[in-house]
Amino acid sequence: MRAAASDLPLAFDDVSLTAGATTILDRVNLTIGPGAPTLILGPNGSGKTSLLRLCMGLAEPSTGAVSWGGRADAGPERRAILFQKPVMLRRSAAANVAYGLAQAGCPRGLRTRRTEELLDRVGLSALASRPARRLSGGEQQRLALARALGRQPEILLLDEPTASLDPAATRFVEEIILDAARSGTKIVMASHDLGQVRRLAGDVVFLVRGRLFEHAAASDFLDRPATPQAAAFVRGDLVL
Ligand SMILES: Nc1ncnc2c1ncn2[C@@H]1O[C@H](COP(=O)(O)OP(=O)(O)O)[C@@H](O)[C@H]1O
Ligand SMILES: [Mg+2]
Repeated sequence: MRAAASDLPLAFDDVSLTAGATTILDRVNLTIGPGAPTLILGPNGSGKTSLLRLCMGLAEPSTGAVSWGGRADAGPERRAILFQKPVMLRRSAAANVAYGLAQAGCPRGLRTRRTEELLDRVGLSALASRPARRLSGGEQQRLALARALGRQPEILLLDEPTASLDPAATRFVEEIILDAARSGTKIVMASHDLGQVRRLAGDVVFLVRGRLFEHAAASDFLDRPATPQAAAFVRGDLVL
């Protein structure tokens, strides 16, 4: 059951993350509000995955603070995260969704119907009884999305969910993401794909080497990048 409180805005107050001598994120200030998807954009190693882990509460800042709806101690109930390579149980597609529902506290009597609804939502009804690990990469991503959506998250964190997919599979996954966003789920998604900014983003958070260079409306980011680094990225130059 979702409590009345909200996890939004999701706020980073001067957040740094270090591992030994390595600075992974460097004094990030960021507020993510409700609305269209927020894309976390940046080259490999810029800190996108680390930022998502902090958003979920899976990692703690070395300095600074993360808060959800003004609360630093908000539990993970209203959030879900999908990693780049989804981990599937050695069971059918349907059983993977049902297992996620059970974990989220869905009563046993509702699980079968909810599982069917979720598989339908991601276009996998016909593959319900197929072993999940036999599904293609794109199908596994859609199954992982079904499992995450089963938690009815207020915030859905996605780590490059289409990175290894072909255009057709990418489109399918993007449609599910847009559908979830239209239904009121706040999407926060890591990407290094400018096309994805055009197709999905309301706003863009641009990271390079752990520093936040820009947080802007997607159209502003694309048309009027405010930093040389963002301008180079938008031009398609390599940003290191
Ligand atoms: N636990 C860790 N210990 C040391 N370095 C790490 C750790 N996690 C991530 N890093 C480093 O932090 C940087 C950012 O990593 P990551 O958040 O995975 O970036 P991205 O998702 O944008 O590729 C990389 O240089 C990575 O090697
Ligand atoms: Mg990453």
